[in-house]
Amino acid sequence: AVERTLSIIKPDAVAKNVIGEIYSRFEKGGLRIVAARMMQLSREQAEGFYAVHRERPFFKDLVDFMISGPVVVQVLEGENAIARNRELMGATNPKEAAAGTIRADFADSIDANAVHGSDGPDTAREEIAYFFKPEEVCARG
Ligand code: CMP
Repeated sequence: AVERTLSIIKPDAVAKNVIGEIYSRFEKGGLRIVAARMMQLSREQAEGFYAVHRERPFFKDLVDFMISGPVVVQVLEGENAIARNRELMGATNPKEAAAGTIRADFADSIDANAVHGSDGPDTAREEIAYFFKPEEVCARG
C-alpha cells in the first residue's frame, strides 16, 4: 500500500552538506518528498518528539544532539514507504548498517546517525502530525 513516513535529516548530516545526496537516496529508492522544512528544533520540540525515549539512558544526549544544529524534516510517500525508508537508512547503529545504506555512508555513531525514520504506521501518523499540518503535506500523483 502507499504509505507516508516521517524522516529527519539530523544535524550531523546537515553539517556534512549531504542533504541533497540523502534526498537523492529517497528519490532513487522510490519515495517522493511530499512535505519538507529546515528548522532549528527547540529543546522542548526535541524532547516532545522523542518522548517515548524519555526514560532511556541516552535521552539527554539524544536531545542535546538533535538541537545542536538545524535539521531537515520531511514526509516521504510511496509503496511501503515506512519499511522502504528503513531499508534505505540502514541499522540505527552505523557500525551495523548494511553497505550502501544512508547510515553506512554518512553516519558516524549511534547518536550522530544522519537520519531518523518512523518505525511503524502509528508512529508515522503521530510524527507527521507533530511537524506538519494536513494542508502542508502536498498530494502528488
Ligand atoms: P532515531 O531513529 O532517531 O531514534 C532514537 C535515537 O536515539 C536513535 O535514532 C539514535 O540516534 C539514538 N540512540 C542513542 N543510543 C541509542 C540506543 N542504545 N538504542 C537506540 N537508539 C539510540
